[in-house]
Amino acid sequence: MENHKLYLYPIWLRIWHGINALCIILLIITGLSMQYGNIDYPLISFKTSVMIHNFCGIVASIGFVIFLVGNFISDNGIHYRFKIRGLYKRLFTQLMYYVFGYFKGEPKPFPITKENKFNPLQRISYAVAMYVLVPLVVITGLGLLYPELIFERFLGMSGVQITAVMHSIGGFFVSFFLMIHLYVASIGKNPLKNYKSILTGYHES
Ligand code: HEM
Repeated sequence: MENHKLYLYPIWLRIWHGINALCIILLIITGLSMQYGNIDYPLISFKTSVMIHNFCGIVASIGFVIFLVGNFISDNGIHYRFKIRGLYKRLFTQLMYYVFGYFKGEPKPFPITKENKFNPLQRISYAVAMYVLVPLVVITGLGLLYPELIFERFLGMSGVQITAVMHSIGGFFVSFFLMIHLYVASIGKNPLKNYKSILTGYHES
């Protein structure tokens, strides 16, 4: 079979992705440690967790702004837009492929092209992760870092408490996204093929 190479991940995107992935993993570990760690027998001391969490949060937030600007000024942003018309059918077709078709060796219902590098499920999950979940975590994180910026009280509750709960919920969903993302990225002819692509920039088929 012919081997096609498509350049899908430009260098700025790969650098952002690498730094973002590392920061988010450290944010999840230190976030869990701060929330659930035993204060008397900590795996990572509370002070160290706070320091790493704040540092990675700031780096990931700057990275997020770079990602937004990159998507705005380059044509990478087109991959995050989707038409509502026929969306349910496209999502269902892709889901059926992941659940049944892939295991039966059927061809991909939405082959990868330069114009369509994501299948419908990837498109919607990346759009939700990058335009809903990450901004929620970034904005609430900034609120917790600078509490003077947030409402003292809102709907009879403490503004800091509401912000902290929203930050934890956002963090939970980003962690959930990451688990699914790692699994789905390993689906293919070779489990490491997509991981290689995000390092080299080239998708090989
Ligand atoms: C160790 C951690 C991670 C690994 C190994 C990883 C792996 C990959 C791979 C292989 C791809 C390209 C194939 C594909 O599109 O499925 C990709 C793309 C992507 N990843 Fe990750 N990822 C990681 C963490 C993250 C995190 C934490 C986020 C966001 C919160 C993220 C967001 C994205 C996005 C938005 C793309 C598409 C980029 C584009 O082409 O515009 N990844 N990742």
